[in-house]
Amino acid sequence: MTTPFQISRRSFLRRCSATAAATGLPLWFVTRELEVAAQEAAAAKAPVAANDRPNLAQIGCGGMGSGDAQGASRKADIVAVCDVDENHAKALAARLARGGKSPAVYTDFRKLLERSDVQAVINSTPDHWHTLINLAAAKAKKDVYSQKPLTLTLDEGRHVVKAVRDNKIVLQTGSQQRSDRRFRMACELVRNGRIGKLHTVRVFVPAGLVGGPFNTAPVPAGLNWDFWQGQTPNVPYVKERCHANFRWWWEYAAGPISDWGAHHNDIARWGIGLDGPVAVEGKAVTKPVPGGYNTPSEFEAVFTWPNGVKHIAKTTLDDTPYGGIINQNGQRNGVKFEGSEGWIWVNRGTLDASKDEIYTTPLPASATRLEVSNDHLQNFLDCVKSRKDPIAHVEVGHRSASIGHLAGIAVRLGRALQWDPEKEIFTGEGAAEANPLRAREMRKPYDLSFIA
Ligand SMILES: NC(=O)c1ccc[n+]([C@@H]2O[C@H](COP(=O)([O-])OP(=O)(O)OC[C@H]3O[C@@H](n4cnc5c(N)ncnc54)[C@H](O)[C@@H]3O)[C@@H](O)[C@H]2O)c1
Repeated sequence: MTTPFQISRRSFLRRCSATAAATGLPLWFVTRELEVAAQEAAAAKAPVAANDRPNLAQIGCGGMGSGDAQGASRKADIVAVCDVDENHAKALAARLARGGKSPAVYTDFRKLLERSDVQAVINSTPDHWHTLINLAAAKAKKDVYSQKPLTLTLDEGRHVVKAVRDNKIVLQTGSQQRSDRRFRMACELVRNGRIGKLHTVRVFVPAGLVGGPFNTAPVPAGLNWDFWQGQTPNVPYVKERCHANFRWWWEYAAGPISDWGAHHNDIARWGIGLDGPVAVEGKAVTKPVPGGYNTPSEFEAVFTWPNGVKHIAKTTLDDTPYGGIINQNGQRNGVKFEGSEGWIWVNRGTLDASKDEIYTTPLPASATRLEVSNDHLQNFLDCVKSRKDPIAHVEVGHRSASIGHLAGIAVRLGRALQWDPEKEIFTGEGAAEANPLRAREMRKPYDLSFIA
């Protein structure tokens, strides 16, 4: 008897060859997906019906949220959208309208979460809103695709992990590099000793913005500025604090450390294969302009991992095989793994190594292989059905966001700190100063009682 999978084996192999050609990755690496697909097909209880589209809701309809919702609308029905800026919510609803039907518009996520027809939400709000919305969604038993970094503080992470586990919801963090073959291959090669003993990981992220001082302005019509600020201190409206630029302020994010840093430090952690570092030191390389963006546009952080690996995260592209050359995306970013027998460099467009054999030689059958996902949203939707953990599940999101938070605290204090990744507390010298920064005071009414 032949299964549908066996029938399509030849075309699958053809697809693997095309993928290998398109990505420049070796065929031995890509064809493993054949085995994985066969295992998944065998494990699937029933074929997925063509009209088996879940109902989703989009919370946060700005730059990323619009992209997330439009991407998801190819695989699911977006039945509701929500934004504290009504203009954004209405614009996205209009863009998602099909056949005279458009998603319902909300300005308070708590109302949206009352809908019984919503299975899962996509949370693309600024970082300072991720946690309360994710906690409320978990309580309402909605699965969540939450943008990175998963949290604003170290302390929020444990709350989110507990809520996801207690309520048995599926949470995917929007760290989509985990669903990119190049990053998976780099991490698999590192984990299997292909560059010898790993000793250094260098993470390069684009610098943040320098700007200011900024003027206050009247709050634009349709924006609920108080709600937008949420848990953060109430300040007069400044355009440059709000949409898109929130990431350059400590109140709402942590600058480049937690923006691009959330992506590449996640890959560093994937390659290292451990929960968290045991020490961190940080410094601001540039000084923010008084009255302007208050996170340093340039920073340097050095982490020490329990296995002795040094992990250096910074905004200057030295020590890479590319010198100061900007990559094809026009962005200075990437991850370089260095071992006793060579190096591997990876970013969204490139995988390179000190010698070709590092990646052209197939890994042995006994090698440690990482989970396969080539489509981050599809991986989430599959897990919504299977109830399995997605590739960037809640603990992954929390632990990887923690790297940025640790760097942020070290940069703010400008000192070296010791971290206990098991207890998730600072220890030793400086701990008394650093431990209170694990959490932030939440402005009322936007504390836990807001979602009680
Ligand atoms: N995965 C990626 O590659 C990637 C890329 C860009 C941004 N992001 C992440 O996506 C998130 C959003 O970033 P952005 O660039 O789209 O920002 P943005 O400012 O363009 O959009 C955020 C939207 O959320 C809305 N919002 C704020 N508080 C809200 C609340 N309580 N309820 C509902 N809506 C609320 C804002 O009004 C705004 O429309 C950030 O966490 C960012 O780190 C991820």
